Amino acid sequence: MEKILVLDFGGQYNQLIARRVRDNRVFAEILPYTADIETIRKNKYKGIIFTGGPNSVYDMSSPHYSREILDLGVPVLGICYGCQLISFMEGGEVSTAPVSEYGKIELTINTSPLFDNIPEKSVVWMSHTDYISSVPEGYEVIASTPDCPCAAMQNKRKGIYAVQFHPEVTHSEYGEQVLYNFLYNICHCKGDWVMDSFIDSAVEKLKAQIGDKQVILGLSGGVDSSVAAGLLSRAVGKQITCVFVDQGLMRKDEGDFVEKTFTSLFDMNFVRVNCGEYFLEKLKGVTDPEQKRKIIGTEFFNVFWNEIRKQNGKGYFAQGTIYPDCIESGKGDADVIKTHHNRVKTPDDVEFLGIIEPLADLFKDEVRRVGEKLGIPRELVWRQPFPGPGLGVRIIGEITKEKVKLLQEADAVLRDEMSKNGYESRLSQFFCVLPDVKTVGVMGDHRTYENLIIIRAVTTDDFMTADWAKIPYDILAKVSNRITNECKGINRVVYDITSKPPATVEYE
Ligand code: XMP
Repeated sequence: MEKILVLDFGGQYNQLIARRVRDNRVFAEILPYTADIETIRKNKYKGIIFTGGPNSVYDMSSPHYSREILDLGVPVLGICYGCQLISFMEGGEVSTAPVSEYGKIELTINTSPLFDNIPEKSVVWMSHTDYISSVPEGYEVIASTPDCPCAAMQNKRKGIYAVQFHPEVTHSEYGEQVLYNFLYNICHCKGDWVMDSFIDSAVEKLKAQIGDKQVILGLSGGVDSSVAAGLLSRAVGKQITCVFVDQGLMRKDEGDFVEKTFTSLFDMNFVRVNCGEYFLEKLKGVTDPEQKRKIIGTEFFNVFWNEIRKQNGKGYFAQGTIYPDCIESGKGDADVIKTHHNRVKTPDDVEFLGIIEPLADLFKDEVRRVGEKLGIPRELVWRQPFPGPGLGVRIIGEITKEKVKLLQEADAVLRDEMSKNGYESRLSQFFCVLPDVKTVGVMGDHRTYENLIIIRAVTTDDFMTADWAKIPYDILAKVSNRITNECKGINRVVYDITSKPPATVEYE
């Protein structure tokens, strides 16, 4: 399989660059700038992309790389900091620009294989304070802006290209074309990264790795573990056991939906461990949000480890880890690199033959595409994120059986109305929250003193920031009316109109 290396110098868009390359049907992997040159040489990349970075190339503590990388005979594209770094490595001059450029800027290009099918003038996204003040010997300027005389340069003979702007962001009008040109005109890729062939080769690999042994997978009902289960089932069928730990904190009827889907769709052993009562016992009297999360997380795995112990160390342990969980960041922070792996620590007495992570090369959108191709229902593949601790972080204060039931009922009404009104796919996430608050109301001729329900609905691209969703008043009115009528014990419904930041999406 042809591969492109995205060499990460700490820029904020490094994952986006790799995703855009993959959108062009070419596999891309990210390595930190600390990766050694021998590894890079051995991997026989079709091309290398240097990412942006927050630093100045003259800052001694900023990330650099051995000059040898430019002599491997592999085409290179430098972006932003990566562009300046190439100039610096090749003996050009980089200095503080008289005018820093941020945002959309008009670019004028000259002829270059990098700019095929791009008009002479277009808009690009810039974000820089340094610029190339003098290009290295052997390089020619191929683009400029009013304040940046060298917005792109090339050394055609060596196959080295550099752009000061960010082609990976959608604000750059022809950014996609720039990346396409680099991959196909310059690196001569064929475009062999397609999900069908991924499934075929992943299945073959899993078959070879697992042989006649057993595999156990913890199924949360989320997208990643569901797709991992689908792939494993296709590879080894009944040798896989999916353990679905139902902690009693899922949405209404969700546990049954997961069980029904997996038992009807796939050839596999399915074990549902119902431990709602056990979790409630562990959570009794606990109100601190962090402690609640900790208990739920720890107990989830305790239940799961018990299932693995039953295999007596003779099987494999599979996880739905995806690529963003595995990427080592280029920020050189070794401690962070270790902990951000989504790989749990196993207790000493839990033994298994090895860990299998069939999705470790995929981004979330690729996982979804694989899920669709495996025939997993859209409802599961495109479901909105649901936090690991489930409704536990949507019940403020102590969690009780009654509160879980009340929240499930209210949430089911909201889901029903969103779906009926076509809002399900327009919102990134929506749910109900049960705060530890009672208010006075009046129903019939009686005074009531009952629970409050909060509706939270957001739109977002990446969940790092989010806007509260502008759901029409008449739909909100219907939801409110139905919740107060159908859910006994709720006499008031409020709508959360806070974005993230300053709030978070979840409440705890
Ligand atoms: P916040 O509340 O941090 O949430 O704005 C951002 C996104 O992450 C989800 N979320 C979680 N997902 N385990 C998860 O798998 C968790 O513990 C967790 N907490 C929050 C949240 O639903 C939102 O989509």
